[in-house]
Amino acid sequence: MSILFSQGRIGDLELKNRFIHSATYEGMAEETGKVSDRLVRRYKTLAKGEIGLIIPGYCYVHQSGRAFKYQTGIHSDDMIQGLKNITDAVHQEGGKIVFQIAHAGRQTKKDLIGQVPMGPSKMGRDPINFSKAVSMTEGQILEIIEAFGQAARRAVEAGADGIQLHSAHGYLINQFLSPFFNQRDDKWGGSDENRFRFMKEVVQFTKKEMPEDMPLLVKLNTNDYTPKVGITPELAAKYAKWLGEIDIDGIEVSCGSAVFSFLNMCRGDVPVKELVGNLAWWMKPLGKLMMNSFVGKYDLEEGYNLEAAKMIKPLIGNTALAVVGGIRTKAMMEEIIEAGHADFLSMSRPFIREPSIVKKMKEGTADAVACESCNRCLAAAASNMQVKCYNKGFPKK
Ligand SMILES: Cc1cc2nc3c(=O)[nH]c(=O)nc-3n(C[C@H](O)[C@H](O)[C@H](O)COP(=O)(O)O)c2cc1C
Repeated sequence: MSILFSQGRIGDLELKNRFIHSATYEGMAEETGKVSDRLVRRYKTLAKGEIGLIIPGYCYVHQSGRAFKYQTGIHSDDMIQGLKNITDAVHQEGGKIVFQIAHAGRQTKKDLIGQVPMGPSKMGRDPINFSKAVSMTEGQILEIIEAFGQAARRAVEAGADGIQLHSAHGYLINQFLSPFFNQRDDKWGGSDENRFRFMKEVVQFTKKEMPEDMPLLVKLNTNDYTPKVGITPELAAKYAKWLGEIDIDGIEVSCGSAVFSFLNMCRGDVPVKELVGNLAWWMKPLGKLMMNSFVGKYDLEEGYNLEAAKMIKPLIGNTALAVVGGIRTKAMMEEIIEAGHADFLSMSRPFIREPSIVKKMKEGTADAVACESCNRCLAAAASNMQVKCYNKGFPKK
């Protein structure tokens, strides 16, 4: 039997194999943030595919931190029953589930959240949402830290097997960690220790609400790829070490920012037509120029976060390590686990196309995923469409 199907462990949580469904926004929640039946069906199908651990799309912890219209909320107790419907469906199929909790910070829009987006520091307009964020007050920082704690409590009540803090892709925790986004000179910025403080307090508040034996995971950027220097692999290594020291059970390494460098986050093709399709008419020409300039520059490299994983693995002791980003062939997966570069293989786009790819690999009917990283699923998310495989193009209206 391949090493990929040997048991793995994140803290006290035992997993039947080395596969993780990386958090993937689905565009399937109700506009209130409540879980829909369609979402429950999606996770039942994925659990039937025998994935060791399933992490659904990021759930917003506070209305001000919502990133998408059809994103799942974990910001109020009214969300708990729907989330429980998902955990029940996954457990019935013998799966394990961890909720990813997040705050978008500056990476959202005023018309979605009903207020001007906020981040650690006031900055110019972002290149995708055209939002101009304001700097968070001390009171707002404490309110959001508390909101992460309350979201953790709801995840526990909903029957999750663990929690993951979304500290990657340019969202709020990532913003505090990054010298690009965080230009504060109070206790929340100005040095690596101060920039880590928000994360540290979120961890404390989250852990307070979790049973002792429930694992807390972090998705961490190892490179922000922002216009000016943000998190670099060296800084990420420092943070990863500190995360190990504050008893984080698992780290998943990723890169890129949804607004400044989404093609680093999801390397592959640039579906210009689909990416530009949703823009306002006056933005289309510029959008098309920009997207065309990206074509061919972000082609998929298999395992594009693997070098970062190799660097971090020796620094984090017993903390489990997962690597995400372009993991596509069984040969590479086995090599990563056998060499001990990481403990888990995390994938997103391949599961959108083939929810049962793990089962197929186990049964020996597939040696590689069918996903071609065409990135139309990503363009669908940006267009407020349901996330599924649109490899053949978007349906005609
Ligand atoms: C449609 C879509 C939605 C995503 N949503 C999330 C999300 O909710 N949380 C997150 O951490 N990453 C999200 N990602 C990023 C993936 O989890 C993953 O890091 C990235 O796609 C690279 O992995 P892959 O090559 O296996 O797709 C999303 C990616 C896609 C394509």
